[in-house]
Amino acid sequence: MAEVHRPNKNRKGFYVKMKLFRTKNWKLEKPFFIRYFKWILWFSLSFYFFAKFLNNHEFGKSNLKTTIINQHPYRVLSESSLQHQKDNQGLLKDLKVYVYELPSKYNIDWLSNARCSNHLFASEVAIHKALMKSDFRTFDPTEADFFFVPVYVSCNFSTVNGFPAIGHARALLSSAVELISSELPFWNRSNGSDHVFVASHDYGACFHAMEDRAIADGIPEFMKNSIILQTFGVKYQHPCQNVENIVIPPYISPEKVESTLSKSPIDVQRDIYVFFRGKMEVHPKNVSGRFYSKRVRTEILRKYGNDRRFYLKRHRFAGYQSEIVRSVFCLCPLGWAPWSPRLVESVALGCVPVIIADGIRLPFESIVPWSEISLTVREKDVAKLGGVLDYVAATNLTAIQRNLWDHKLRQALLFHDDVETGDATWQVLVALSTKLGRSHRRSRLSSE
Ligand SMILES: *[C@@H]1O[C@H](CO)[C@@H](O)[C@H](O)[C@H]1NC(C)=O
Ligand SMILES: *[C@@H]1O[C@H](CO)[C@@H](O)[C@H](O)[C@H]1NC(C)=O
Ligand SMILES: *[C@@H]1O[C@H](CO)[C@@H](O)[C@H](O)[C@H]1NC(C)=O
Ligand SMILES: *[C@@H]1O[C@H](CO)[C@@H](O)[C@H](O)[C@H]1NC(C)=O
Ligand SMILES: *[C@@H]1O[C@H](CO)[C@@H](O)[C@H](O)[C@H]1NC(C)=O
Repeated sequence: MAEVHRPNKNRKGFYVKMKLFRTKNWKLEKPFFIRYFKWILWFSLSFYFFAKFLNNHEFGKSNLKTTIINQHPYRVLSESSLQHQKDNQGLLKDLKVYVYELPSKYNIDWLSNARCSNHLFASEVAIHKALMKSDFRTFDPTEADFFFVPVYVSCNFSTVNGFPAIGHARALLSSAVELISSELPFWNRSNGSDHVFVASHDYGACFHAMEDRAIADGIPEFMKNSIILQTFGVKYQHPCQNVENIVIPPYISPEKVESTLSKSPIDVQRDIYVFFRGKMEVHPKNVSGRFYSKRVRTEILRKYGNDRRFYLKRHRFAGYQSEIVRSVFCLCPLGWAPWSPRLVESVALGCVPVIIADGIRLPFESIVPWSEISLTVREKDVAKLGGVLDYVAATNLTAIQRNLWDHKLRQALLFHDDVETGDATWQVLVALSTKLGRSHRRSRLSSE
């Protein structure tokens, strides 16, 4: 139990000194700020509207950057440092995340299975790794805006079918919370509301792969106040997202994507028109009132199985990325849950994602311009797919591809071992920086 990292007393002394130092500086700056307030405000407003103009009118290189700036006009306006406007790093410069150092049974022990850090739920590992080494990490919990609780729950692979068994997830998480809340004061003081968890499994914070069971189990009581980074997201009310949450992409290895692209560049001629590889049941079973993929995949197979424009495969093939990079359109139909790793792979490999999952909430929606880089087909219209795709191919396909092939998009959806500007962990931090109102430290600072 005593393994939890305790704050270092000496660091605290240092922190107090820093704080006093800043107070002194602030007094010096105040008259300057008041004197030039009007100009700063004017400049900030102009800048904001200029950034907004760019964002609305120019899709291209500067798009992601201006979107990021755009999201935080209040910060540009309220902070006297003009530095923030020059580089988008400024936005995150003072964000601080404390990463709990839990006993290894909660996380790194699971890495003895190499698959643990590579499969589609591995964002729980990737975000932890990236934060550990990042400049946003603080070792002093008293100066942290957020607290990251690194528990890996998706790495308990079943020996029977190879899928992750997450039956133990609630108990493991609950024991981690028990540990941090009894050993350190930070959980109790905010009742967990500035604490961050990853729930990268099918139904996010409900920790079950089947929707009916997930809903019946609900979100564990002890997590209901916290911030959940989850792959699951829908636009309608759902018991499994009834919690402060950020929709994150599923994990795809950036090295694997790079290796695929090194063999086949993104903008070469694509010889597969429509691609899908994955589970397509001919006679889906009624599993407690639900059918796999709501029978959408079955319908795709029935309607287009013999259509030569459609390259549909039902069996696993390790080299499927080489097929995606050769394809114009990649189908991303729902499975049990609406989200799928195909979304990330399609974008990363330049194949236009055709999203068939009604009501899905996509990762980083405020940053990634999904409507300009993908197509959405309603579940009930799946039999009209061929016509829709032909129409797009004859009209705006080139425009969509041009948007899609911006490398910033690929960057935004991939997690790297070290946080890189604009990558998926970076976007998580950007999203967290819009939730500073939940930070115990920030709310204290602003009320001082
Ligand atoms: C892994 O999952 C199985 C099935 O849910 C469970 O019985 C087992 O306790 C889990 N293992 C650990 C180490 O939590
Ligand atoms: C936090 O609250 C729990 C439940 O009230 C209590 O058992 C625990 O000792 C508290 N932790 C600290 C560090 O005071
Ligand atoms: C903390 O939050 C949980 C979940 O919302 C709630 O059940 C509990 O009553 C809260 N505890 C306190 C002390 O506010
Ligand atoms: C599926 O099974 C449920 C019972 O689990 C039943 O109520 C429902 O009518 C079935 N649906 C279909 C389309 O067969
Ligand atoms: C392309 O055309 C389709 C079909 O008309 C439309 O739904 C979609 O929004 C268009 N996309 C772009 C980026 O213009």
